[in-house]
Amino acid sequence: MNILVTGAAGYIGSVVTERLLEEGYNVIAVDNLQKGHRDALDSSAHFECADFGDPVVLDDILSTHQVSGVMHLAADSIVPESMFDPQKYFRNNIVSSLNLLNAMVKYNVSKLVFSSSAAVYGIPESIPITEDASISPVSPYGESKIIFEKILKWYGSAYGLGAISLRYFNAAGATSIHGEHHEPETHLIPNVLKVALGKAQHVPIFGSDYETADGTCIRDYVHVVDIADAHLRALSKIEDIGVKAYNLGSEKGYSVLEVVRIAEQVTGVDIPVVFEPSRAGDPPVLVASSELARKELGWNPRYPELEDIIDSAWQWQSKYPDGYLN
Ligand SMILES: NC(=O)c1ccc[n+]([C@@H]2O[C@H](COP(=O)([O-])OP(=O)(O)OC[C@H]3O[C@@H](n4cnc5c(N)ncnc54)[C@H](O)[C@@H]3O)[C@@H](O)[C@H]2O)c1
Repeated sequence: MNILVTGAAGYIGSVVTERLLEEGYNVIAVDNLQKGHRDALDSSAHFECADFGDPVVLDDILSTHQVSGVMHLAADSIVPESMFDPQKYFRNNIVSSLNLLNAMVKYNVSKLVFSSSAAVYGIPESIPITEDASISPVSPYGESKIIFEKILKWYGSAYGLGAISLRYFNAAGATSIHGEHHEPETHLIPNVLKVALGKAQHVPIFGSDYETADGTCIRDYVHVVDIADAHLRALSKIEDIGVKAYNLGSEKGYSVLEVVRIAEQVTGVDIPVVFEPSRAGDPPVLVASSELARKELGWNPRYPELEDIIDSAWQWQSKYPDGYLN
């Protein structure tokens, strides 16, 4: 079965591709390498180095390969950047994604798994966040994700598209061959581990006066392998489910300082921190309820403990201290 994966050379896309190949799918990988890495792509995937929203590229791929489903991970995804450059986010995450959807309709590809985000909820009224919580994103990034989710609903009723949106909380961790390497890196765990590796002096912590026990933000971390597994489960259930969104989180929250402390235990290295002003659009606490995904997708995370998540990231970063070279 041929699956088109957009953003396959990115962090989560590389692991989704790895899992699909392990399960015997053929992967057509599309990535323009604006953020991804060629070395993150398994050589047994068919790689198109291209913009996933280019109608000519999409025509070419979908007329050549018998594609059964699409996993759409490619996006711009840096929240602070989206605050001052919303155009970029709406163009890539909505306009280009719409081109992808239209090509799917044209070639009768009726299954889509979409990478959505906890950012659709904005500042939650209660914790843990369930899928029926109010949707009020506080960044153009979060807005772009929910607008596309809404488009999926209408394409479902008009064209019979089946689409599952997976609202990831914080993806983290690595497999033995694929890990997290962004330039610039904005995610906490790889930045904490860079300090442990001696590649940075300290971890910047944005905000120390949030209404949490230690004053730093609380987040929910989910292993990238468990996210990839959820994609496979979603793909196999789309036909029965239709169009629906599911949270993917670990249901446990850790403050930034707790993450640093656990990373010190895992690595055996002291990790200095420096406090900086809080950032616009950073909610104090984001913790998911993933009960719906457990119940309806049969999702059962294999690596729920933060120690294991950090340990897998540490193994990968120690093995590849400069990340991917290409
Ligand atoms: N990492 C997280 O914690 C997290 C949390 C919530 C949601 N998400 C979502 O998951 C998805 C993957 O996230 P990630 O962390 O792996 O990001 P990433 O930046 O590592 O990967 C995205 C990939 O998409 C590619 N890409 C972007 N625009 C493209 C285009 N127009 N054409 C072709 N390729 C393009 C990039 O080159 C990159 O390889 C994104 O949609 C993101 O919004 C991520």
